[in-house]
Amino acid sequence: MAEEAVKISVPYFDLTRQRRELSSQLETVLKDVLESGQYVLSSAVRDFENAFARFCGSPYAVGVGSGTDALIFALKACGIEKGDEVVVPSFTFIASAFGISHAGARPVFADVDPRTYTLDPASVEKVLTRRTRAILPVHLYGQAADMEPLLALAKEKKLKVIEDACQAHGALWKNKKAGTLGDAGCFSFYPTKNLGAIGDGGMVLTSKASRAESVRRLGNLGRTSLKDPHWEFGWTSRLDALQAGVLSVKLKFLDSFNEKRRKIAERYKKNLKDTPLVLPYEREDGRHVYHLFVVRVPNRRRGPLQKFLQEEGVPTRVHYPQPIHRQPPYLEFAKALKRLPVTEMLAKEILSLPIFPEMKEEEIDRVCEVIRRFYGMG
Ligand SMILES: Cc1ncc(COP(=O)(O)O)c(C=O)c1O
Repeated sequence: MAEEAVKISVPYFDLTRQRRELSSQLETVLKDVLESGQYVLSSAVRDFENAFARFCGSPYAVGVGSGTDALIFALKACGIEKGDEVVVPSFTFIASAFGISHAGARPVFADVDPRTYTLDPASVEKVLTRRTRAILPVHLYGQAADMEPLLALAKEKKLKVIEDACQAHGALWKNKKAGTLGDAGCFSFYPTKNLGAIGDGGMVLTSKASRAESVRRLGNLGRTSLKDPHWEFGWTSRLDALQAGVLSVKLKFLDSFNEKRRKIAERYKKNLKDTPLVLPYEREDGRHVYHLFVVRVPNRRRGPLQKFLQEEGVPTRVHYPQPIHRQPPYLEFAKALKRLPVTEMLAKEILSLPIFPEMKEEEIDRVCEVIRRFYGMG
């Protein structure tokens, strides 16, 4: 790739391309919902819940207001309560821990695997106490966590497993969909997710009717229907009909969008394989859906590389610059630092390159060309 390659700016993410591609279908569904006069608790929501449940192979799906609420309600529906400990990676988006805290329980941070960046089962084992009630693996960046040892550990110790699949719509682990492997699976439909709404939204999957019912009650002010009394303290956190309509349209394209993400990742890997960057590792027993394409930049060169890319019109991000136990709400856990060496190392080195299904080949090549030039490999 020559330096004279066309100097195009590459967006980090561009939602308008997908909107343009699906515009007539989206406009029809938005109009239908608007005209229906039913904006919450409607058939559009039930239809999407059923479609997403079918897509994932889960008996029950309950729409809620966000991924964070999905985590809170799933934990509570699994019986997690005040005084309980829930093991979670510190290397994830802070909402994974917020779900635990808002459910009234205590997050206990474990380290991640240095290749996959998902929860390290050996580290989990080290932090178990007699108060541990659940494990919350995160399918980070679109790749399922190493579920076999986690599920085995949970079975042995009688712990619940609540999956944070907020970044892993359609990801597979041994031919099963992420979010269907434990006692409950939680999804976010934040607009930039692999399946994204035009606002906030979330979903809980579970194989138990009573648990699904409990999630639905929690998000509907503690009652199941208008005729019901309010059985318990609840929230107003429901997936609304407009979001459900949009998501129903997009769900039909999720597999093809994920396939496009995988192709982009493949092209990145091919173009960058001889650079000093550490490229994403894909487990053989699953299907990574590349919600993010995250590389590691060794030798303290992340800052300079990020600046160089920015100056060349290639914005990048860091997911996430601070491990959760270093963020203000969780500073009391900072002493855990010594136990989380992989987390600490990753926070300093990771860099997210642009990726979204509609990204063009010349844009991928442009990102790679700038990176190669940074390393004097132009
Ligand atoms: C790993 C993870 N967990 C939880 C969430 C929370 O989802 P939401 O933003 O819909 O509350 C997100 C997304 O933002 C996430 O990436």
